[in-house]
Amino acid sequence: SDKQRPRRPKAIVTRRLPEAVETRMAELFDVELNLDDKPFDRARLEEAVARADVLVPTLTDQIDAALIEKAGPQLKLIANFGNGVDHIDLKAARAKGIVVTNTPGVLTEDTADMTMALILSVPRRLAEGVQMVLEGEWKGWSPCHMLGHRITGKRLGIIGMGRIGQAVATRARAFGLAIHYHNRKRLPEAVEEPLEATWWPTLDAMLSRVDIISIHCPHTPETHHMINAERLRLMQRHAYLINTARGEIIDEPALIAALQERRIAGAGLDVFEHEPAVDERLLAMRHVVLLPHMVSATIEGRLAMGEKVIANIRAWSDGHRPPDQVLE
Ligand code: DGY
Repeated sequence: SDKQRPRRPKAIVTRRLPEAVETRMAELFDVELNLDDKPFDRARLEEAVARADVLVPTLTDQIDAALIEKAGPQLKLIANFGNGVDHIDLKAARAKGIVVTNTPGVLTEDTADMTMALILSVPRRLAEGVQMVLEGEWKGWSPCHMLGHRITGKRLGIIGMGRIGQAVATRARAFGLAIHYHNRKRLPEAVEEPLEATWWPTLDAMLSRVDIISIHCPHTPETHHMINAERLRLMQRHAYLINTARGEIIDEPALIAALQERRIAGAGLDVFEHEPAVDERLLAMRHVVLLPHMVSATIEGRLAMGEKVIANIRAWSDGHRPPDQVLE
């Protein structure tokens, strides 16, 4: 029962967090920090779930059913430091009565800013230009030097119109992009209207009609490899694909084939199927911009994520429902 919840719960944190967050956690909880930031191996994770009241993992920890099976009866809360929870088996957690929380809302603007940076960078060949200067390959201005494609007036197709998708749409509007979106549910008119957003009930129809696709849905069994070979074939030859959500939403070998055969014009990727491994064929391409899973990486954002984790743990240990409980 709620009364049995420990006042100073034992919280095991799997990665280094901003110092201010760690300090606050140490004041409030019986916390074990990972000061050398070495990712927990399986044995250390198993040992942690056997002892902790609260586990604070990140997306680099696989909290699967087999691990949750090893959890002791005292483990009651998995307070994820991060928004996406596709590394946590929510069903297995629920079956064991373990509450899962995340940190929504505080990464929205940062993620949308960097998504916009990719939307601008890929068609305009920004990374290629930087590289040319750094390598001393720039031979001077000429009329047909480094030509890209205009952003203004193009159609942006957003997959997943939640908080982040909407924040991208707001920015993209200011750059003169026409907003199209695919979402299970159509947004209320009050949201659609200022964005002049067009809803596509089927993804396939939208894919064949937009110039830039940007992915902002969670990775779930339903969205796993949602962008596969057939869907890539629906995209136009001049279209670009941007992914700042999760690598597993795209069938990466299929994307590589489409890029190699120039069936699409380019891609901007912050996330990959087997992070931190990046396929060598992508590294050899000029028409891609590749980032190391960093679009949410701001100091302000990470502090706010820490505050959310703390608020979730406190609410739980006070016997309340944590504000960011993730439902299956
Ligand atoms: C998340 O929180 O899910 C991001 O991918 C990393 O901050």
